Amino acid sequence: MAMPRHFLQFNDCSRTEIEYLFARTRWIKDRLRQGQSHHPLQGKTLAMIFEKSSTRTRVSFEAGMGQLGGNVICLSKNDMQLSRGETVEDTARVLSRMVDVVMIRTFAQTMVETFAAHSRVPIINGLTNEYHPCQVLADIYTFIEHRGPIAGKTVVWIGDPNNVFYTFLQAATLLNFKMHLSSPPGYPVDDARVTAAERAHLETFADPYDAAHGAALVTTDVWTSMGFEAENDQRRRDFQQWQVNTALMARAASDAVFMHCLPAHRGEEVTDDVIDGPQSLAWDEAENRMHAQKALLEFLLVGEVKTP
Ligand code: CP
Ligand code: NVA
Repeated sequence: MAMPRHFLQFNDCSRTEIEYLFARTRWIKDRLRQGQSHHPLQGKTLAMIFEKSSTRTRVSFEAGMGQLGGNVICLSKNDMQLSRGETVEDTARVLSRMVDVVMIRTFAQTMVETFAAHSRVPIINGLTNEYHPCQVLADIYTFIEHRGPIAGKTVVWIGDPNNVFYTFLQAATLLNFKMHLSSPPGYPVDDARVTAAERAHLETFADPYDAAHGAALVTTDVWTSMGFEAENDQRRRDFQQWQVNTALMARAASDAVFMHCLPAHRGEEVTDDVIDGPQSLAWDEAENRMHAQKALLEFLLVGEVKTP
């Protein structure tokens, strides 16, 4: 049996494949807007396993799979035998005999890797503590949609170097853009997780205002990611100065855009006037999760399709 393709990290795809996905996303989005159906996944089933909360990921995959003609089964870990001791390996063996693709949102990246190693069908990472590749696929598509090619541009990440940040760093390396990072003392980038190639695309700054200088894309995320709630009070104190506000946006390029993967904690990592302001692409970014993931689902299940 041929080994299935998985999307567990951003760089599970080559640069050429990512560029294909961006072009295909554009076509899929246009087709939907024109009211034309596109059902390449008729008779196929997507199973989704959630061990953490979700609004966008669940709805974008469920709506998107339906638009492609497929079916969805949405499972929460608590309702599964996984929560009563059935192994990840056995769960993967069983599910992958019944469905055609599985999306997983969980804690450790090793869980999705173990699942994939025992699956006959493609596995998609719908967020782990380490990475959020579907998010960054949509984010970069959104940037390109509004501002053109991202190669050679600077993306600044303000705040916690979390799962979305490390995924952006993989994307920067694959697609040849530059990452600036400013995070508070005590929250440095983990050198053990950064390859030499990624290091060459990353510059770190103590001062968030210095980091924002000249950036084409300003992005941030909650101070406390899911799974780290015990650190919430400490983080709220430590991250006070790492807020994207109009003064910080003014340091970026004059045509800079703002993005946030959402959910946002307004008044913490971002102010209302930025997220609701003219430079914000947050809502297009959220919508594009669905279009980009439709292109990804089609790619994993059907392969590359010639886009007219
Ligand atoms: N951005 C994102 O993944 O949102 P959800 O947690 O709502 O799925
Ligand atoms: N970094 C956030 C992203 C949520 C979509 C988290 O992991 O909670």
